[in-house]
Amino acid sequence: MLKTRLTQMFGIEAPIFAFTHCRETVAAVSRAGGMGIYGAATFAPERVDADLAWIAANVEGKPFGVDLMMPQKSDGKGTTADAGALEEALRQGIPQAHRDFTASLLEQFQVPGLDTAPPVEDDGRPGGRGWRHSWYDFKLGAVETGARLQLEAALRHPIAFLVTALGTPPPDVRALARARGMKLGALVGSAKHARQHVEAGVDVIIAQGTEAAAHTGEISTLVLVPEIARAVAPVPVLAAGGIGSGEQLAAALALGAEGAWTGSIWLACAESDEPPEVVERLLAARSSDTLRSRCRTGKPLRQLKSPWSAAWEGPDSPGMLPMPTQHILTAEAEERIQRHRRADLTTIPVGQVVGAMDSVRPAAEILQALVTDCARTIARMGRLAPHANEEQA
Ligand SMILES: Cc1cc2nc3c(=O)[nH]c(=O)nc-3n(C[C@H](O)[C@H](O)[C@H](O)COP(=O)(O)O)c2cc1C
Repeated sequence: MLKTRLTQMFGIEAPIFAFTHCRETVAAVSRAGGMGIYGAATFAPERVDADLAWIAANVEGKPFGVDLMMPQKSDGKGTTADAGALEEALRQGIPQAHRDFTASLLEQFQVPGLDTAPPVEDDGRPGGRGWRHSWYDFKLGAVETGARLQLEAALRHPIAFLVTALGTPPPDVRALARARGMKLGALVGSAKHARQHVEAGVDVIIAQGTEAAAHTGEISTLVLVPEIARAVAPVPVLAAGGIGSGEQLAAALALGAEGAWTGSIWLACAESDEPPEVVERLLAARSSDTLRSRCRTGKPLRQLKSPWSAAWEGPDSPGMLPMPTQHILTAEAEERIQRHRRADLTTIPVGQVVGAMDSVRPAAEILQALVTDCARTIARMGRLAPHANEEQA
């Protein structure tokens, strides 16, 4: 057990928040005493509804959270309330050069079409097995119109913590969450954005360093966390980016965070629904095998390096389109890569901590190791300055 203001706020045993798209992992982390956070951004609203119902039934009454992308800036935001028409309008705007480049890469890398792909294994969930299949079906999770559809589905369930990425939750969303007794959180990569969120009434700031998986800024966790903790005090801060061990968790607490917000390490836990060949690539990867590229979503996103991302970043690339048009452009290509099990081309979001991921363990075991090793580290650090408390007194 590790006690901080955030374990007290949520009534949990360990200040470890686990972002994941996998409902089994959300439930396993919450049951083990941390807090599982369901990443809804990639899912169609029906899938969000079904997964959250499943999670609520499998957490043994423990709290869990939901994360949505609500970008302040994105292509086509607010142009229509009709998600289908918005997606079509964005698709129509894709330049021919971008379509041709995507097609030429699929040919160059010899990725066959969907017509010859093995069928998606049906596990009875809307959207099929694994988050990535749903990612191809629902392309508006990264614009407010889509996020609002997901939110509508999410609010039917007993969420303890509602978190948004890429922007401050709009006032009506904040009011809806408040009315249901949820705490609000927001991911940030700068002190300026952290202050804006706090002014809007966000309860917990998640300071995410550049080493993190997915959409990140350029400042490292070591620099960002104390900067933000000072800027928003006394609002509690979670440190995100590069935390995969008890030593790193202890470092986050030393920097002024009240806990850790983690993502990458859960991709390779026993409950993870990632395809085995992708997990194998993650276990083999080094910390230098990631890059920030706009090739997946249109915004800089840390991901595993692959020949696919190298081509988009290379001299022949037509450049990336804004969010979410880049995703609308490349979704089918990514699905072909996944369905044909071309893990060599995968650009899965993952952080630099991937270099330390070397085995598959149950989520509860990963969580317990974080807590035990953190406590041991704090004790070891205490021994470095045995008289510190007396000197202070
Ligand atoms: C596969 C994957 C997808 C992610 N997608 C999102 C997302 O949709 N929204 C979000 O707020 N964060 C997303 N993240 C980032 C996590 O919320 C978290 O900030 C990050 O993983 C922490 O750094 P770490 O990967 O070093 O643990 C994602 C992370 C991973 C691993």
